[in-house]
Amino acid sequence: MNTDTQFFASCPRGLEAVLAGELTALHATNVTAVEGGVKFAGDLKLGYAANLHSRVASRVLWRVGQAQYRMEQDIYDATRKIDWLRHFSVERTLRVNVSAIKAPVKSLDFITLRIKDAICDVFRARGGVRPSIDTHAPDVRVHAFLTATMLTLYLDLSGEPLFKRGYRREAGEAPLRENLAAGMLALAGWTPDVTLLDPMCGSGTILCEAAQIAAHRAPGIGRVFGFEKLLNFDEKAWEALRNTAYAAENNSIKTIIYGSDLRGDALELARANLDELDLLSSVALKQANVFEMPAPAAAGMSGGIIVTNPPYGVRMEDRDELAAFYPKLGDALKQKFSGWTAYILSSDMQLAKGIGLAASKRTPLFNGALECRLFEYKMVAGGMRRVKPTPAIDVN
Ligand SMILES: C[S@@+](CC[C@H](N)C(=O)[O-])C[C@H]1O[C@@H](n2cnc3c(N)ncnc32)[C@H](O)[C@@H]1O
Repeated sequence: MNTDTQFFASCPRGLEAVLAGELTALHATNVTAVEGGVKFAGDLKLGYAANLHSRVASRVLWRVGQAQYRMEQDIYDATRKIDWLRHFSVERTLRVNVSAIKAPVKSLDFITLRIKDAICDVFRARGGVRPSIDTHAPDVRVHAFLTATMLTLYLDLSGEPLFKRGYRREAGEAPLRENLAAGMLALAGWTPDVTLLDPMCGSGTILCEAAQIAAHRAPGIGRVFGFEKLLNFDEKAWEALRNTAYAAENNSIKTIIYGSDLRGDALELARANLDELDLLSSVALKQANVFEMPAPAAAGMSGGIIVTNPPYGVRMEDRDELAAFYPKLGDALKQKFSGWTAYILSSDMQLAKGIGLAASKRTPLFNGALECRLFEYKMVAGGMRRVKPTPAIDVN
């Protein structure tokens, strides 16, 4: 494989190791996890495959230039040196994004403008015409990343972020991003042979991701990508990748995925999303209060896995309600789910303490900018007996 092409895939913080594992499984080389993403190398087809198959990446970027810089003018000059006409045609609309860590520049907006000018000047110098800018729905996205001394320029192979799989009809109350939901399942170590329950499923993001995993459905199979707008787009290679992914699907799974929610309207959303995926028959949905519902009998004595994100609140009255919510949740888990392991995402460390169970693992995970933990609780058999407090391991 030609390993000359360098990539960067971004992901929610806390999922870098999961993403590195996905990319290694796709035969990427030089896989290096850094905060917020993974660097890797391969050929361009690997870039397509990462977009098609990664469940936790947010974007896949192709590195097209890198240069040391000292002054803002150096950034313009380095961008101007790239043959952008090789990458996309002037009819394509463009957007530039800049992010930076410790960059000695006054304004990132100004740098964005200078990079855009440099790209447009390359086009103007060669043909007199420049691409139009579209910040809302551009054909081509250029990302620039600045450190204290280094400028790296990328072409975005994804286009719309990868968590937009295309199946979500309407969002419910505080829905999870699809790639975060898939990451929670990966961190929980869930595999499709294990009974899964999300008892506060809302619009069903965790259920939808699990059903796709069980069906061997490539998460990007139903959408379009940024790389399709680039001049080097290899349509044949892309068709071949998609056909292989279609052939690998297996829709004959038996129901081992359960979802419930207190609210009927939330369940309707979950149902619509699963239906859109054509995977409604692989999930059992039921309106139920998590404090009152029994564990799905199919799991038997050996139990199953709960993966969920309970309600969280920012208003004061929500917080009072939530303070009462967690102890009740802990009691329900202890009483009815012995033998099960629960993975609960929460941003509030105090509230999570109220659950009254000893966490056996706490994995830091970011829901957007919100710092959370994925708490692991192992419910031992024996009814109301408290789990033996084991020191929780903070996983990094
Ligand atoms: C943060 S949302 C979950 C969002 C979901 N992960 C998604 O992606 O759409 C929390 C959910 O918990 C539900 N809920 C609140 N109290 C509940 C209870 N006692 N029993 C079951 N569900 C409850 C709410 O209706 C809401 O849908």
